[in-house]
Amino acid sequence: MNRRYRKTIIAGNWKMNKTLSETKAFAEAFKPMLGRPRWCDVVLCVPAVNLQPAIRLFKDSRVSIAAETCHYEPSGAYTGEISAEMLKDIGVKYVIVGHSERRQYYNETDLTVNKKVRAALEAGLKPIVCVGESLEQRELGVTMELIAYQVKCALAGVSAERVRHVVFAYEPIWAIGTGRTATAQEAQEVCETIRAIIRKLYGARVARGVTIQYGGSMNPQNAFELLAQPDVDGGLIGGASLKPDQFMEIIKAADQD
Ligand code: PGA
Repeated sequence: MNRRYRKTIIAGNWKMNKTLSETKAFAEAFKPMLGRPRWCDVVLCVPAVNLQPAIRLFKDSRVSIAAETCHYEPSGAYTGEISAEMLKDIGVKYVIVGHSERRQYYNETDLTVNKKVRAALEAGLKPIVCVGESLEQRELGVTMELIAYQVKCALAGVSAERVRHVVFAYEPIWAIGTGRTATAQEAQEVCETIRAIIRKLYGARVARGVTIQYGGSMNPQNAFELLAQPDVDGGLIGGASLKPDQFMEIIKAADQD
């Protein structure tokens, strides 16, 4: 973390979890734990059907609500899809773009990631752009090249003015939902590389203001060490964000002085 230059953001990614009543139960348990805003921003990414109720439930709290994906066109014949504009219109603040599960199961490519990043920014949403390598890619030794490629693709055509609103999440695929976390050093190395690429594209001032999260089995036990790394500015948390007490422990790790 480096609070002088950029925001620390702790975001929960609920994926396809929690019904409406479970969402309400979470809010009831979680809100009293939150306390007044401190250092980090808190975000919850929830299934589309629960976005509006979640926005109501967390109104007047430090929690912003995020979508887990969006379409790249503002409107049109795309049955089943939701545009960035529609999300913005109901009070959504962030949207995850290019999560590895969407890259793997739903044909999300670096090209669609770029279109979605630009659509989100155009609509006034902050994209949380996920990048990360598979185990095979790490073992081949191509992690940094792959990350550079994903980051450059995501940002193609994005102005320096708008990059300030982009959040990156380094999520090694082998660490997602596996209980196997990247070491703090591995996380730092890749987050530092992401910042170096942004620096090359937009200059040092812009690069030092961009929030770069780590994601992949982050939990109350490992959060503090990961967040202590200079280029790790928060977390994108799956499993551990489903339980109010565990998610709160990670927020506390980010809130510490
Ligand atoms: P995990 O998921 O924390 O359950 O590994 C992280 C993510 O996929 O964003």
